[in-house]
Amino acid sequence: MEHQHEHESPDPHDHHAFDRDYWEEHWAPKARRNMQGDVPVHPYVEEETRDLEPATALDAGCGTGSEAIWLARQGWQVTGADISTSALATAHNREREAGLDDRLTWVETDLTTWDPGLRWDLVVTNYAHPATTQLAFYQRIAGWVVPGGTVLIVGHLDAQDDAAVGTHEHPREAMVTLSDIAALFAAPGWTLQTARENVRRVTAPDGSETVLHDVIVRARHAGEELRSTRDAGR
Ligand SMILES: C[S@@+](CC[C@H](N)C(=O)[O-])C[C@H]1O[C@@H](n2cnc3c(N)ncnc32)[C@H](O)[C@@H]1O
Repeated sequence: MEHQHEHESPDPHDHHAFDRDYWEEHWAPKARRNMQGDVPVHPYVEEETRDLEPATALDAGCGTGSEAIWLARQGWQVTGADISTSALATAHNREREAGLDDRLTWVETDLTTWDPGLRWDLVVTNYAHPATTQLAFYQRIAGWVVPGGTVLIVGHLDAQDDAAVGTHEHPREAMVTLSDIAALFAAPGWTLQTARENVRRVTAPDGSETVLHDVIVRARHAGEELRSTRDAGR
């Protein structure tokens, strides 16, 4: 059964700031009620990383850690970064239960201002919507990919079609078009490897179903062959 990663909160007509308070309010009640079980990884992370050699990875806006933990299970050395203390506390508990603590590091930070001081072989982000624009966020985190590394972006598709948008539960500013993201990686030094849209039905932990309109972009940063930054004195 596929799952829904906590998409029920945002009211599409509610123009709140996606700041730390918003996300903490989103995650804290779920953490208190221990609502996040061992939900499966998003299908795109599995599909889009299966041909990559595990090295170092960042999950930007990791929430309660499903994708970070899944990547660690595949052999990646993962940093999961999020602005929410509660989400990370849940992620940390799940990682301990999975016995993967030597492969995972959790960082509580605002990714729109963070200067990590290092880069990763793989940077993934799934449905993260910060207070900045989506494109500014994607451009920022793509700057943290080593030469030869990969960025994978999964976002909420802005179908620019009111009928389709009516099926989303996401505010317009959290949505993106495929062409806008793809244009970011038309820049020199990047090769677009995946650029697609998809519609899927997901089931939330409470059994409710939602149709998600997704955009999936994977791009490779030109440069040397993929190398592990673990070997570079990190
Ligand atoms: C919709 S949730 C997605 C969580 C997870 N990636 C998933 O797919 O289930 C968006 C996540 O982005 C995080 N986030 C939003 N703005 C952020 C920021 N400025 N810095 C770090 N994390 C942020 C939120 O706390 C939240 O966990």
